[in-house]
Amino acid sequence: EDNRIKRIASSIRVIPDWPKPGVMFQDITTLLLDPLAFKDSIDLFVERYKDKGITVVAGVEARGFIFGPPIALAIGAKFVPMRKPNKLPGEVISEEYSLEYGTDVMEMHVGAVQSGDRVLVIDDLIATGGTLCAAIRLLERVGAEVVESACVIELPELKGRERLGDRPLFVLIKAKGV
Ligand code: PRP
Ligand code: MG
Repeated sequence: EDNRIKRIASSIRVIPDWPKPGVMFQDITTLLLDPLAFKDSIDLFVERYKDKGITVVAGVEARGFIFGPPIALAIGAKFVPMRKPNKLPGEVISEEYSLEYGTDVMEMHVGAVQSGDRVLVIDDLIATGGTLCAAIRLLERVGAEVVESACVIELPELKGRERLGDRPLFVLIKAKGV
């Protein structure tokens, strides 16, 4: 397990000062270029969640769409996309959330997740936690039970975990830098 974590960590490229000065961008596209590391990351999630009665894997646009579907297929759960505004064609339920500057909106199809569903929320990274909090709120509003949120990378300095309060969060890698 330690070897798998090391392979995953070393496959993630860190790009300083992108998209703006002072940010150490965690680039998972290089993880995707290493099929063994990508598989290790999926396997670690699957091993954790396969026997937890998860009925829905909810992936947060955009990079949660990369990690969520292979996990959903492997554990026999539905995949539900949580999208940026005005992308989903059906009736949606929306949740506004704050960014560093301004606000954004996350949307989900009405009926995709139902009361009683046991949901795993997946994204590539947690920074301030605003994105995951919005996803959790949206899922809870439709009566789902959010079993856990999971990310490949956590930036602990940004204290997203604290923002989630007592909601469980599982991550593979804790990275430095803001
Ligand atoms: C990034 C990242 C997470 C979110 C984390 O996504 O993929 O979804 O930020 O930040 P937070 O914990 O402070 O909310 P971004 O909004 O840049 O969009 P993208 O995934 O579509 O590229
Ligand atoms: Mg994102």
